[in-house]
Amino acid sequence: MAKRLIPFDKIANEHPCFLDPEERPDWRGLFQNSNPLKLEIGFGNGNFLIDMAIREPQSNFIGMDFYHKGIRKIVTRMDRLHIKNIRVAYGNASEKIPILFEEGEVSEVFINFPDPWPKKRHHKRRLIKPQFVETLAGKLAPQGKVHIATDFESYAQEILEVMQANTQFCNPHEDMGFLHERNDIPKTKYEKAFLDAGKKIYYFEFSKEQDYALAPTA
Ligand SMILES: C[S@@+](CC[C@H](N)C(=O)[O-])C[C@H]1O[C@@H](n2cnc3c(N)ncnc32)[C@H](O)[C@@H]1O
Repeated sequence: MAKRLIPFDKIANEHPCFLDPEERPDWRGLFQNSNPLKLEIGFGNGNFLIDMAIREPQSNFIGMDFYHKGIRKIVTRMDRLHIKNIRVAYGNASEKIPILFEEGEVSEVFINFPDPWPKKRHHKRRLIKPQFVETLAGKLAPQGKVHIATDFESYAQEILEVMQANTQFCNPHEDMGFLHERNDIPKTKYEKAFLDAGKKIYYFEFSKEQDYALAPTA
């Protein structure tokens, strides 16, 4: 039997886990604890975020997306599973991340299969661009990590260039720049589909340089 999803309007108007933020929320107050904040940008149907939240009850997860059906799916499932450590932040990550977090507040970021915008004239719409990466670096905690995955070779190349050009990040996989396997965290819907189709996947894991966190301010 098809599962009934909560209507988007009902979620937006009433659900305590949904935020359409115009300013930084009081994350500690919302989660009622000061556990580490972990962010997934573009959670799609939300399966990865739910799996992570179940695996790590001592972390707080924030999912950011603007895909209504995905939001309906994740919130319906969160209710069914009584998950308390996820908040869904609605909107465009490029616009919202600057206002959602204080500097150094986020301990981990996951960007799984960001839209590749395959046509050359659309490449400028890709999410992972220098300004966005600079914003992410600022929001990350000392030694915080950014995990990125894509199946799209030219986007993988661009991600590597943009991330390596930002001196706040270091790449523990410097030889190739990426890995072709990631077995320590759950698989996303797109990831499973690409793996089933035998596609090559590029996984990145960048860390915020500790020196940046420790550098004294002038
Ligand atoms: C290709 S899907 C991948 C979904 C999921 N991460 C997965 O791996 O199964 C990309 C997702 O990113 C979302 N998205 C794209 N651009 C975004 C942006 N600027 N801010 C927030 N979400 C975005 C889309 O709505 C979509 O849900």
